Amino acid sequence: MNPAITNWDHLRVWVIGASSGIGAETAKLLLEKGARVALSARRVDLLQAVANCHPRALVAGLDIVDPASVQAAHAHILKEWQGLDIVLIVAGSYNEMRADSFDLAIARNMLELNLHGPLNCLDVVLPGLLAQGHGSIGIVSSVAGYSGLPKALIYGPSKAALINLCETLYLDLRPRGIGVYMINPGFVDTALTAGNDFPMPALMKTPDAAREIVRGMERGDFHIHFPKRLSNVLRILRLLPYRLYFWIIHKGTGL
Ligand SMILES: NC(=O)c1ccc[n+]([C@@H]2O[C@H](COP(=O)([O-])OP(=O)(O)OC[C@H]3O[C@@H](n4cnc5c(N)ncnc54)[C@H](OP(=O)(O)O)[C@@H]3O)[C@@H](O)[C@H]2O)c1
Repeated sequence: MNPAITNWDHLRVWVIGASSGIGAETAKLLLEKGARVALSARRVDLLQAVANCHPRALVAGLDIVDPASVQAAHAHILKEWQGLDIVLIVAGSYNEMRADSFDLAIARNMLELNLHGPLNCLDVVLPGLLAQGHGSIGIVSSVAGYSGLPKALIYGPSKAALINLCETLYLDLRPRGIGVYMINPGFVDTALTAGNDFPMPALMKTPDAAREIVRGMERGDFHIHFPKRLSNVLRILRLLPYRLYFWIIHKGTGL
């Protein structure tokens, strides 16, 4: 559904959310494969540590919720590289929330980071990609965005919005020569999941998640989801009538 990538040499990739977890591991894998990678996040010291080992890495610190900071990082990258081929938006966060622990401030912050953050990135990269007529955008959503799940009262909606955003972007951008990757991980062992007090089926390590993402991009997939034994079950569940879906989720999670 997107052009296959057979050679990463000299592709200019911007990874936003590259200081830890899935983004850091994906950035390192892309560097190993020969890409030029711009590393963005707030913790610049962690980005610099990666860049110190890779001559093709470029550090561009930013806070994704601050449009001016995203614009400045983008301007820095363009000044160094004169363009971009792939933009991978990974940054995000999870706060457990249920109806009886609803917190408006936390809810707003989570939407600001998980949804408005990617929009701040689109705002700076879309004009350049559209003008050049090639390149691609990948957005990390989550299997939690497929349909409602317990403890994901705001995280789930923020990721569901990204799924719809990717689908709609694909319709708009693919005819203009630009690829879109919708990336839906299941549980991955990172700081984001470290505090979870519930069983995480099919929990993956970050290098495996990074390999899934990069392989999916190389194949030209639109929908990159993993691990399949969890993501495919959730994809089937969302097709069921709600009565059955809610019953299975209650039974399966005990929540
Ligand atoms: N782990 C999972 O099971 C899982 C499953 C599905 C989807 N995901 C998604 O995968 C993405 C990465 O999560 P992860 O599990 O790898 O967690 P992580 O290790 O906590 O990584 C989060 C990344 O986002 C960056 N970030 C957070 N706030 C930011 C901000 N305001 N500005 C710029 N960057 C910011 C962090 O960098 P700084 O703190 O340095 O800014 C870090 O690089 C998230 O979107 C998450 O929703 C994760």
